[in-house]
Amino acid sequence: MLGTGSVTLVGGGPGDPGLVTVAGREAIERADVIVTDRLAPLAALAWAGSDAEIIDVAKIPGGRSTSQDEINQLLVEHAKSGRHVVRFKGGDNFVFGRGSEELLACLEAGVEARVIPGVTSAIAAPAMAGIPVTHRGLTQGFTVISGHVPPGHNDSTLDYAALAASGTTIVILMGVRTLSAICAALVEGGLDPETPAAVVADGTMPSQRVVRATVATIDVAAADLGAPAVAVIGPVAAIDGLQIGPDA
Ligand SMILES: C[S@@+](CC[C@H](N)C(=O)[O-])C[C@H]1O[C@@H](n2cnc3c(N)ncnc32)[C@H](O)[C@@H]1O
Repeated sequence: MLGTGSVTLVGGGPGDPGLVTVAGREAIERADVIVTDRLAPLAALAWAGSDAEIIDVAKIPGGRSTSQDEINQLLVEHAKSGRHVVRFKGGDNFVFGRGSEELLACLEAGVEARVIPGVTSAIAAPAMAGIPVTHRGLTQGFTVISGHVPPGHNDSTLDYAALAASGTTIVILMGVRTLSAICAALVEGGLDPETPAAVVADGTMPSQRVVRATVATIDVAAADLGAPAVAVIGPVAAIDGLQIGPDA
């Protein structure tokens, strides 16, 4: 059986197991090994076969972690031993998920690999709060950014003045700690301080919480919201689609 294994990168969606795709579920059902993460919808692991090996490489902030090199090696070694490996992650593996690094590591090692896209929290978390990332007449696009480092940080490559002038909805992932600095940079870059802003925490899960304000007043700490959360900045953040409809 040596050499006939494979790696499938499966996007698990934002948390609700109902948002795993049909193809993703089938891959989980067939897997010999599932390498999973903290933000993947863990309830979906119940679909795995009883013989499947589940490996948790959760990177808990400040806690235990497995390096990306170790994860790549794990995927390659299991596949080379003839097993069908699923790399199961939250959202879409290619949106701040290091999926492309894992895919390339597999291909470079001569391991067959494929990708099953997932529902990204960048769109789904706002949607579950009734916020569309685009709306005809309000915005002709959306920009998804990582807030893992604040504006001005040595590792930041983002041009906040350009973002402020873009006219697109700005969607921020990994930005709970840095949101106030990002909002300040956007306003300094010319964004109207009255621009609507919203934060959706635990999107799609029973614990989902939403706070709405403006880019000048949004305050996740005051609202007691923590990660995982998606922030949305732009006129669409004032829309509450949950209140639109015959029962509203
Ligand atoms: C490392 S990124 C991975 C994103 C993921 N690949 C995706 O497509 O959704 C983790 C960030 O995704 C966002 N996130 C993931 N799941 C979320 C959820 N259920 N609700 C709100 N934000 C979520 C948060 O911004 C979190 O810090």
